Amino acid sequence: MSKGLDVGTAFLVCASKDIANPESDVAVKSVRDAFLDIEAEQSVINMLKMSNVSYVQEGDQCYIVGEPALSVANLLKREARRPLSRGVISAGEVDGERMLLILLKEILGAPQVDEEHVYYSVPAQPIDRDMDIVYHEAMFKKLIESLGYKATSMNEAAAIVYANCAEDGFTALATSAGAGMVNTSLVYQTMVGMSFSVSRSGDWIDSSSAKAVGSTATRMMSVKERGVDLLNPNDGDPKTLREREALIVYYKNLIHYIIDNIKKEFKKDNSSIELPESIPWVISGGTSLAKNFLPFFQQEFEKEKASFPINISEIRMAKDPLNDVARGLLIAAMNE
Ligand SMILES: Nc1ncnc2c1ncn2[C@@H]1O[C@H](COP(=O)(O)OP(=O)(O)OP(=O)(O)O)[C@@H](O)[C@H]1O
Ligand SMILES: [Mg+2]
Repeated sequence: MSKGLDVGTAFLVCASKDIANPESDVAVKSVRDAFLDIEAEQSVINMLKMSNVSYVQEGDQCYIVGEPALSVANLLKREARRPLSRGVISAGEVDGERMLLILLKEILGAPQVDEEHVYYSVPAQPIDRDMDIVYHEAMFKKLIESLGYKATSMNEAAAIVYANCAEDGFTALATSAGAGMVNTSLVYQTMVGMSFSVSRSGDWIDSSSAKAVGSTATRMMSVKERGVDLLNPNDGDPKTLREREALIVYYKNLIHYIIDNIKKEFKKDNSSIELPESIPWVISGGTSLAKNFLPFFQQEFEKEKASFPINISEIRMAKDPLNDVARGLLIAAMNE
């Protein structure tokens, strides 16, 4: 077995394949990267047992992990907690590490051979936040290896190129717009050149638009995920038109923020990589799932194209925006 594990703020995604059986399909599994602590009263335990929700009990606390953490949180009018915040292990979340181990065990299962390889995703260094990813990277290596695997980290955006750009000779600009951050890398024949992340993405769209219309981030996320047509705010329930208009404002702002930062970073990056005439730009991640995201992105890019430092042959969506990081990591693990 080889495994690719995408470590995300909202989801952990695992792609695996039985290498002894080349005909077998790639299996993809995902789990919500969240948990909820509740007091372990007998009535609560009975309810959890009856509803088949998996939980761990530690003293007088009960922890529910994964998707049920969200539904139970909604039921109790509480917020589920997340082990990750803006793409990296959350500093203020003291229970986070233990919960991650439970989530990782659930999604990776036990290794089938000694030192089975897992490639896991790490973000590039954020350019708009004073923090480094060294601790995050080391912590995940430790957690994954404590389950009996051999763990190797790989840049999240580079994994998208592995999964989507075989026909381009693994040369492309790739962007992953997730929940906590946007990762961008310039990849030349699988080698990563310019690479950076920004600490704004889906969560930032939710919280900024919530402030703008006096709502909550959770509610904005639900309006967003029910489907926002970026080219036509009127498409949808008239009662949430204002919310959709605000979401679109921040989508547009995010896209220009990404483009502007690529311009800046490209200038800083003095690599001598000789790029082909023009290269594709592949976009992935949950935030790119909004309706008409691609034409909206292309429309905004047109405004900045003249001063964009890289010749782009086409902008296209990744084949499987929620799972391509894990799929790309699996490809890298299989090449090991
Ligand atoms: N249909 C949709 N329209 C718009 N946004 C969506 C849709 N479905 C999911 N999202 C958003 O996508 C984000 C999750 O994407 P993804 O799973 O790629 O993130 P992640 O990999 O967990 O996070 P990160 O890479 O930032 O750490 C969330 O912000 C979610 O609200
Ligand atoms: Mg991601």
